[in-house]
Amino acid sequence: MLSSLAPRLTNPPLIIGPEALPALADFLHEAAPSRLFVLADANTARLCYPRLAPHLPAHELLSVPAGEAHKTLATCGVVWSFLTENQADRRATLLCLGGGVITDLGGFCAATYKRGIQCLSVPTSLLAQVDAAVGGKTGVDFQGFKNHIGAFQEPAGVFMDPAFLATLPGAEVRSGFAEVVKHTLVADAGAFAALPTGELSAVTDWTPIIRHAVALKAGIVAQDPREAGPRKLLNFGHTVGHALESYLLAQPGRAVTHGAAVGAGMRAETWLSWQRGLLSEAEFETVRRTLDAVFEPLLYAADEVEAIAALALQDKKNEGDVINCTLLRGIGQGVYDQPVSLAEICAALRNNLL
Ligand code: GLY
Repeated sequence: MLSSLAPRLTNPPLIIGPEALPALADFLHEAAPSRLFVLADANTARLCYPRLAPHLPAHELLSVPAGEAHKTLATCGVVWSFLTENQADRRATLLCLGGGVITDLGGFCAATYKRGIQCLSVPTSLLAQVDAAVGGKTGVDFQGFKNHIGAFQEPAGVFMDPAFLATLPGAEVRSGFAEVVKHTLVADAGAFAALPTGELSAVTDWTPIIRHAVALKAGIVAQDPREAGPRKLLNFGHTVGHALESYLLAQPGRAVTHGAAVGAGMRAETWLSWQRGLLSEAEFETVRRTLDAVFEPLLYAADEVEAIAALALQDKKNEGDVINCTLLRGIGQGVYDQPVSLAEICAALRNNLL
């Protein structure tokens, strides 16, 4: 299991725990990049960079505005310009210090600048630690569609210090927890049953939870790095979740966290799994109770359901106009490439409102 590997045995290094930042310092000493650039957002520059900086050699810091609204090609332009103006050559390293937006966007900038420079990831949110920083998906949103432009490119090293989670608001912890719930629902019934219930602020040590979630995800990605098959399991909750997130993001003042949207998406897709006879009603109720204990009901109305569902037609897993969804065949066992109609997505979104 990845979670039991000694840090230096993984290649590229994926280090989870209080030893992560000293290990990053060692890595940089050995890698000796020509220049080091740190990409942060306004929050991580203020709250996380002071903890990171003592572990770094000489570097330049670029801080970009925080939030999903800035996960755009325009922000990539700012990063590429910064690298260009600072004469970054192909032996330069871009270190991404942030949550899912910085991890995805910075990874994409590194993958494309001069056809690719080394990228290191220091994920600071629970979402980035258990999901975005693992598996090499990079990219940005485009014309209102989530992660529409991007590339697969593994970072050269991932260094996760759970101490960064103390900087997060509760809503961001819940957002990352949605991905932990998702990993267990598609791959590990025992881990789902052992998840913390109730107030997440009561969790004092995230390290074992992160290690197990990362091990589940890395195990799936290792089977299918380019998402031709089993990696689609990791999209559970995201067909409906991304549609909802895109719909709300496009409206002033209605943006929700990724995890809040995925929580609602998992509820809808679990309901669909029950309606398909893949899951028993008791299993649906078990999952629903877990999700409802963590995630707020989402603010969409019955008359918005069709417009939200229509956005699911843009999902990257679709083929032609068939919506391909990941569903559950029992708790802990996902099943991918399940064709679902627009009418079924609408019905599932309506069920969430009950
Ligand atoms: N976030 C889903 C994946 O990395 O495949």
